[in-house]
Amino acid sequence: MLAGKRVLLIIGGGIAAYKSLLLIRLLRGAGVAVTPVLTAAGAQFVTPLSVSALAGEKVYSNLFDLTDEAELGHIQLSRVADLIVVAPATADLMAKMAGGRADDLASTLLLATDTPVLVAPAMNVRMWDHPATQRNIAQLRADGVRFVGPDEGEMACGEFGPGRLAEPEAIFAAVSSVLAGGPLVGRHVLVTSGPTHEQIDPVRFIANRSSGAQGAAIAAALRDLGASVTFVTGPATVPPPEGVVVVRVETAVQMLAAVEAALPADAAVFAAAVADWRVANASGQKMKKDGSGQAPGLQFVENPDILATVSRAVGRPALVVGFAAETEDVVAHATAKRLRKGCDWIVANDVSPGTGIMGGSENAVTLITAEGAEVWPRLPKDEVARRLAARMAEALAHG
Ligand code: CTP
Repeated sequence: MLAGKRVLLIIGGGIAAYKSLLLIRLLRGAGVAVTPVLTAAGAQFVTPLSVSALAGEKVYSNLFDLTDEAELGHIQLSRVADLIVVAPATADLMAKMAGGRADDLASTLLLATDTPVLVAPAMNVRMWDHPATQRNIAQLRADGVRFVGPDEGEMACGEFGPGRLAEPEAIFAAVSSVLAGGPLVGRHVLVTSGPTHEQIDPVRFIANRSSGAQGAAIAAALRDLGASVTFVTGPATVPPPEGVVVVRVETAVQMLAAVEAALPADAAVFAAAVADWRVANASGQKMKKDGSGQAPGLQFVENPDILATVSRAVGRPALVVGFAAETEDVVAHATAKRLRKGCDWIVANDVSPGTGIMGGSENAVTLITAEGAEVWPRLPKDEVARRLAARMAEALAHG
């Protein structure tokens, strides 16, 4: 399926540039031809010789190289491929792309092309979190650029967080789904997942039993169909999937802010088990026993309903899917919840302790749509996710 396709691979500067060599091997192994472009910064980390040896092709790096212009002008070069992949994409290169700058070969190719572009960012966590980078990412998304990663983890600079280049296998999987034309290619889907932690004082919080397993499986299934996924997660025990943009939050209020920042999206799945209330009188200091035998009185205030807020927002995603965790009258409660929240579908599940669903590896769901209730058999959470992602792709294609 991939054989005979061509990828123009732009290698930006960064320690992670060595991973692009592994990506070239994976692509070539699948029969994909690679036209490599090495930026000046990229050439500080990998050599043109190793890139061209692995790609089996000439490396392009200079905009004003007359030999190259005679052979293949930069305009033609920008159109030779079925897909342009930028890996690693630095904050600087993404800023140039977002601003439409064209001051070197890579940025000129990216401005001149009408070919789909897949970007795999890599940078220090603070650079990734910076509002300027986040603004540029939102702009690139709006321009139709697809993203894979970054992953979270320890960085070469010793810091920890999002910003690590996605693994070559994950970039290869994203390339494959774009080239193979997965049904969600070009779509941005937002997924919330995990519990929220609501602070009582600096060392105590209120949580719930959500592991984040179902949300992570849904994000992975949507990614596998070609979607560009933003994964907003509370402190879950199951790690986030690779190849999606991970935004970590703790509280419901932070989750709403992260969700709003990630919009617009074509579809959204709200799988998070958001706390309904937060502590109104949370203490800035650790609460102490005062010896009187009196327990502190916690007061609660209702959290924003993220699903309802997004469902009713102007310019909301075309397909909004909520979950309903119920312990009795599952279908009746979930059907009422669909109308109350204003979402399109509700995935209802019975989370009574006897079912072992919350925190377990299986799920038994009923899909509630405007057409009625559809009972699904008890399935592994991965399979529930695949079925849901396929149904979403179908609905978006016909919507
Ligand atoms: N949800 C949300 N924001 C909240 C509460 C819930 O986005 N503050 C979302 C959940 O992610 C889920 C859906 O709303 O998709 C339903 O969550 P659930 O806990 O079942 O419902 P509640 O809103 O808590 O309603 P109830 O208290 O009636 O069960």
